[in-house]
Amino acid sequence: MSRLIGTAGSNPALSVESADLVLAGVESERVWEKNMALVEVRARQHEQNYSEPERKRLGAHYTPDSVVDYIVRHILRPLLKCRDDVRSIRILDPACGSGLFLLKAYEILADYLRKTHRDFGQKDAKYILENCLFGIDIDERAVLATKKYLLQKASLPESDLAAVDKNIVVEDALSIAHPATFIPIHNQASDRPLLDRIFSKHSFDCIIGNPPYVRIQNTPSEKRGYYTSSYMTAAGRFDVSTLFIELSEYLLKENGRFGFIVSNKILSTAGAKRLRSFLLARFRIEEIVDLSDTKLFAAAVLPMILIASRSGKNGNRIAYSSITESHAISTSALPAENVLCLLDNSEIPFERDISVANKVFKLERFYADTPSLKANVWTFHNECHSRILSKIRQNSACTLGNISKKISVGLKTTADDIFIKPMTGDFIKRKGLEAALVFPVLESHNINRWTYTWDPHRDLFVLYPHIERNGKVVPVELDTYPRIKEYLEANRTRLEARTYLTKSGRRWYEVWVHQSPSDFSRRKIITPDISSCNRFAFDDRGFYVNGTCFYLILTEESDASYYSILGLLNSKVIEYFHKISCGNSLYAKRFRYWTSYIEEYPVPKRLLNSTDIRSLIADNVARLVNTDEEAERTKLENENDQVFYKLFDLTEDEVKEIEKTLSVCSLPSPKKGDATK
Ligand SMILES: C[S@@+](CC[C@H](N)C(=O)[O-])C[C@H]1O[C@@H](n2cnc3c(N)ncnc32)[C@H](O)[C@@H]1O
Repeated sequence: MSRLIGTAGSNPALSVESADLVLAGVESERVWEKNMALVEVRARQHEQNYSEPERKRLGAHYTPDSVVDYIVRHILRPLLKCRDDVRSIRILDPACGSGLFLLKAYEILADYLRKTHRDFGQKDAKYILENCLFGIDIDERAVLATKKYLLQKASLPESDLAAVDKNIVVEDALSIAHPATFIPIHNQASDRPLLDRIFSKHSFDCIIGNPPYVRIQNTPSEKRGYYTSSYMTAAGRFDVSTLFIELSEYLLKENGRFGFIVSNKILSTAGAKRLRSFLLARFRIEEIVDLSDTKLFAAAVLPMILIASRSGKNGNRIAYSSITESHAISTSALPAENVLCLLDNSEIPFERDISVANKVFKLERFYADTPSLKANVWTFHNECHSRILSKIRQNSACTLGNISKKISVGLKTTADDIFIKPMTGDFIKRKGLEAALVFPVLESHNINRWTYTWDPHRDLFVLYPHIERNGKVVPVELDTYPRIKEYLEANRTRLEARTYLTKSGRRWYEVWVHQSPSDFSRRKIITPDISSCNRFAFDDRGFYVNGTCFYLILTEESDASYYSILGLLNSKVIEYFHKISCGNSLYAKRFRYWTSYIEEYPVPKRLLNSTDIRSLIADNVARLVNTDEEAERTKLENENDQVFYKLFDLTEDEVKEIEKTLSVCSLPSPKKGDATK
């Protein structure tokens, strides 16, 4: 295999064409290809050595080839084009697993040298391993695998282990930036000075990988303490992978780049807010590829590729691509091997339907403005959406938050199997639970658009051991409700296991997130937390709602006010606004309907100022709430949509764009009575 024995010292001449050839994946040697592919197959199989709990603990979900390929090529591309000697490039994967990213990096460097440096041989192969490739993993088995596969890939014998031994190490990578406070928790004593020398501050040209997605709540408490005290981006509920971005800032040279696959939650969650500010302050974000619901991973994480360079100055635009499964019928979809392959050489802007394995995806690529520091969540819009959104905002008098008394999540008991799940009418009767503390409760599946269904023989109640006293929600005295007391006492062990409740000075039988009973007894608008379309409903029968729903109470509580706002919330314009601006979709085109999004909904000026328009919408909604007739519903909804398009001053073309967008990012909307669990 290694017939090209040459001199490591000679300077490989560079040519942009050869770099392009290598990056395009054009290989001259078929035999090489075959051998390489085999190594990758074995490296990928390493994942099977882990049980499901181990994978969860380590965040060990290995990366699909297409993503590894995309990241490594994009990260190395500029370096191959401008570095005098590519053998001086230092590449790190700080969570290397069995080495898939490093194997790809080796392949690209070796191919490049082979093309530019006629006598590439074993010495060169070894040189790359000793000087260019670095890996860390907390799991010893993974590190051994990486070493083995790198040697195999370079066609070096196992006796050459020393070539990879000091560069591929077992360690908690996150200890590298803050060794002083780190308490090693694995048995292997690391050679700290050597480690600090190899992985020294600002010493890498690029960092690549798929950092472990492990929720901070699921890490051992000693680690949790270390991470939160050492990393400034560690705040609230975050996942460990985000800390690898802060670690990259420590390890990258100036203008060095990282390319990671991470959860797209970092664009929108409150827990990642500090990380977003950190990214804006310390990096130039170059590229984001949001793979959202393409189901690339078995794990329930919606992934995105993030490429950024360490630079004090952020650029003003980001190359943004989104790939979403399309449910619109497309006859012109371009067949492709995987969802990423068309991105490589596409122009910007670029928009195309592609078909991969009998599914159609909409691929869109454009330059988006870098988000401002003030932005609560990061969303990226092409020019057309930006124009429509700003028009919608211009024509609004205020946001929904401005005219609401409260927008909130429902009850979260943190013990639904005691407070909600068994609470059928029969169960309550059998146990003789006091009626004063059990209430019909709506769950997300009960809610349709406009209204909800709840069947006393099939649906549930909530046992709610709180009352309102002087405007405060307090726990009841259990002695007043002997049957409920008996029931809760029988479940005491389970309820007391919620130690966070007692630690925060609360009683063992309380529900975790409670709300005022008077919130529920009044009229309100309700929505499921997760839905594929806007599904707001009106409740004036005093239902409680659980934590799978949100509710809102308007400041003006008249019929006209509720009905006209409900009309607005279920309109196509607001559904479009939600889907384009909330930046948080889940699998199967489902979106979160959180307070932070709902309160930003624009309310058009003329809906507030014109009594005629208000009554027109309110009358239609009064009929929508009371009809089961599909044809009538469609007619009334259409009428409302046309009114709202006018209120936001949208042109025919803009309306077309809105409806086209909704057809791509929606499933067919559920019909009344369709709500399913
Ligand atoms: C998502 S896998 C990535 C593996 C491989 N790079 C790939 O993409 O196929 C995450 C890896 O991170 C490792 N890991 C978890 N916590 C780590 C830590 N604190 N420091 C270094 N590695 C860690 C796991 O053992 C696992 O191999």
